[in-house]
Amino acid sequence: MTLQEIYQSFEEKNKAAEAGGGEKAIEKQKQSGKQTARERIDMLLDDNTFVEIDKFILHECNHYGMQNSRIPGDGVVAGYGKIDGRLVYVYAYDFTVYGGSLSRTNANKIVKVQKLAMKNGAPIIALNDSGGARIQEGVMALSGFSDIFYQNIKASGVVPQISAILGPCAGGACYSPALTDFIFMVKEKSYMFVTGPDVVKTVTHEELTKEELGGATTHASKSGVAHFVGEDEEETLMMIRELLSFLPSNNMEDPPVVPTHDSIYRQSPKLQTLIPDDPNIPYDMKKLIEEVVDEHYFFEIMSQFAQNIVIGFARMGGRTVGIVANQPAYLAGVLDIDASDKAARFIRFCDCFDIPIITFEDVPGFLPGRDQEHNGIIRHGAKVVFAYVEATVPKITLITRKAYGGAYVVMASKESGADVNLAYPNAEIAVMGAAGAVNILYRSSDETERQKALSEYKELFANPYRAAEKGYIDEIILPKDTRYKLIQALEMTANKTETNPPKKHGNIPL
Ligand code: HXC
Repeated sequence: MTLQEIYQSFEEKNKAAEAGGGEKAIEKQKQSGKQTARERIDMLLDDNTFVEIDKFILHECNHYGMQNSRIPGDGVVAGYGKIDGRLVYVYAYDFTVYGGSLSRTNANKIVKVQKLAMKNGAPIIALNDSGGARIQEGVMALSGFSDIFYQNIKASGVVPQISAILGPCAGGACYSPALTDFIFMVKEKSYMFVTGPDVVKTVTHEELTKEELGGATTHASKSGVAHFVGEDEEETLMMIRELLSFLPSNNMEDPPVVPTHDSIYRQSPKLQTLIPDDPNIPYDMKKLIEEVVDEHYFFEIMSQFAQNIVIGFARMGGRTVGIVANQPAYLAGVLDIDASDKAARFIRFCDCFDIPIITFEDVPGFLPGRDQEHNGIIRHGAKVVFAYVEATVPKITLITRKAYGGAYVVMASKESGADVNLAYPNAEIAVMGAAGAVNILYRSSDETERQKALSEYKELFANPYRAAEKGYIDEIILPKDTRYKLIQALEMTANKTETNPPKKHGNIPL
């Protein structure tokens, strides 16, 4: 062959590899409203930055006629590229090749990029759309999943790991996304379950659609498995790009600084009237957050799950902060099992990647009740204080109204390790609210005596001054000054160094 013929043959082979499972399978993929693996990667990455690796790799299965059907690259497209000019690794299951099922070869390919991501300190993004373990390969496919999980766990806290579910994700395959930091799903196009509707019907006689059992809405609002839901694939992939803009590439780097025109000195007169005079009337904590962060932009995470706590990223003076906030507008902002899990995991993510945490606190306590107690609010609630104490990043707490009981302690109080504790003049820091306290202390008293006790209690505890007298609150601030006060606290703690005692790892209550 001449050189020209060799080059031409290479180009043809390239084309064949890029065709994946072929025209028919691509057409089927499109008919079900899904993009191909390569289209997804192109949408996700900066233009012309994708470098594909292992494009010609072949599966090694010789059963069920598989020896006659080896598609170059097999069922995963993998490599690296850039998002906003920063290196990322990516792999996408190709549903057009044996339903994106995981062969031993596909697993090797994925493990290769996982290792590269860790070695070179860059995030890794998985685009899932797969029928799970390749049935024809038996234990070889299962071992492939094990190897992927192993790398997921080793990479946890080293590089950000992101999973998008863009089609089916069933059985044990769900555990790779579950081991990553953030899961994105697409409305009505993706689903995740450990056992599908047919098995559920056989075992429990419940009849559920795939969407009801494990669709995006279910996982975003009920199970808390999904962190983000996109209307379609494009929106989902754009959300991944945005999430990455808040994150460092690895645990040794800082997140990118995004210069802002929003003055750090900006006052917020409207915050003076956001909190109602009556402490029993709710207000929307998200309005407070949006008022104080750069450009009023708050990137919320898990917005539909455990809405009594709000988590997400924003920037203050151009730098990323993680925000944890009680939400008085939902269940009065109580801490329950789901809220505790949601907050604790986010705090730990921020700590892994050196992102300062700002806590906005307005919490009347833990949710009482049999369900909560029997389902373990004790061990779940304990996660919050564990995560805060363990976190060595700058921790700044602002009490905007109520800080009662155990919830005061766990929500980054001074005693549980916060660096700067601020409170509004209307803050109430006490073991419980006035009515509850008087009911216990003056159980058998008459109404006049109880009313007297009520005003005495309010005078004593429905304010931040007792805590400020003891140094548990560093500074009492006016709501309009919140932005600058928080930025000052962030600047003051920017070079914080704190280390936990040497140990293999702590034993967070799970
Ligand atoms: C091999 C598979 C496959 C698999 C799908 N295909 N799943 N091939 N191994 N696991 C093939 C199909 O045979 C078909 O090939 C093509 O992919 C497209 O599949 P369809 O069924 O036509 O597509 P669709 O109707 O969209 O249904 C998609 C599906 C269904 C819901 C994912 O294929 C399905 O139920 N697959 C099996 C899912 C499953 O139970 N997997 C095992 C999970 S347990 P042709 O040649 O006809 O186009 C697991 C263990 C992991 O993964 C353990 C980790 C520790």
